[in-house]
Amino acid sequence: MNVQVFKSAEQMGKAAAAMFAAQVIKKPESVLGLATGSTPLPVYANLIEMHKDGLLDFSKVISFNLDEYCGLAQTHDQSYYYFMRENLFKHINIRKEAIHVPSGTADAEAESAAYEKAICAAGGIDLQILGLGLNGHIGFNEPADDFAKVTHKVRLTESTIEANKRFFASADEVPREAITMGVGTIMAAREIIIAATGAGKAEAVAKLVKGEVTPQFPASVLQMHGCVTVMLDEAAAGLL
Ligand code: GLP
Repeated sequence: MNVQVFKSAEQMGKAAAAMFAAQVIKKPESVLGLATGSTPLPVYANLIEMHKDGLLDFSKVISFNLDEYCGLAQTHDQSYYYFMRENLFKHINIRKEAIHVPSGTADAEAESAAYEKAICAAGGIDLQILGLGLNGHIGFNEPADDFAKVTHKVRLTESTIEANKRFFASADEVPREAITMGVGTIMAAREIIIAATGAGKAEAVAKLVKGEVTPQFPASVLQMHGCVTVMLDEAAAGLL
């Protein structure tokens, strides 16, 4: 794994955005894999800035997000679709039809199969960004006995509900289920950036980079991928 440590989350954001920019400039019709959570926000802020400066054209880009909460419509302010619209899509010139976020309201089985087909039809993901859950989840692939191969519905763990309740009025309002790309779907991306910032992630980062490869810590599987860049701030790199 290529591990890159930056002084601050802002600098990590600039560097990761530069990797996305290079990808889109090199291949304007790139297929980008996108993530929610607070970690990618500085990345998106920099991409928006580059677009506004006339450096980046997203008109031919196709995007696939990792996951969505079950039961939340696209218009719900805690849905991941809404998050992506507010924090990236509405500020750039990506076409609406080119945006893919799994539907949290459709039949999960049919939606999962359709999502896999759509990724395949687009030619696969060129560059995927991931955040890192405290328990090692990527997308919403929670610790489990096996690595999930394809997009599927999951039950969120108590630790994830606890970590994500900060965005809702209370823990009771956090949906208990989500639909997520599988670990296999993620591993099929040609290139992956996994980003983590803040001292709270230091232990998870150490397991990601140096721990045993196990579905009990899903992100560890990235050690088996040939083209992964781990983008950290100094705090998150504290235990390396
Ligand atoms: C959520 C998302 C993940 C994300 C994680 C970490 O559970 N489903 O894709 O990586 O949170 O979020 P943050 O970046 O806010 O720490």
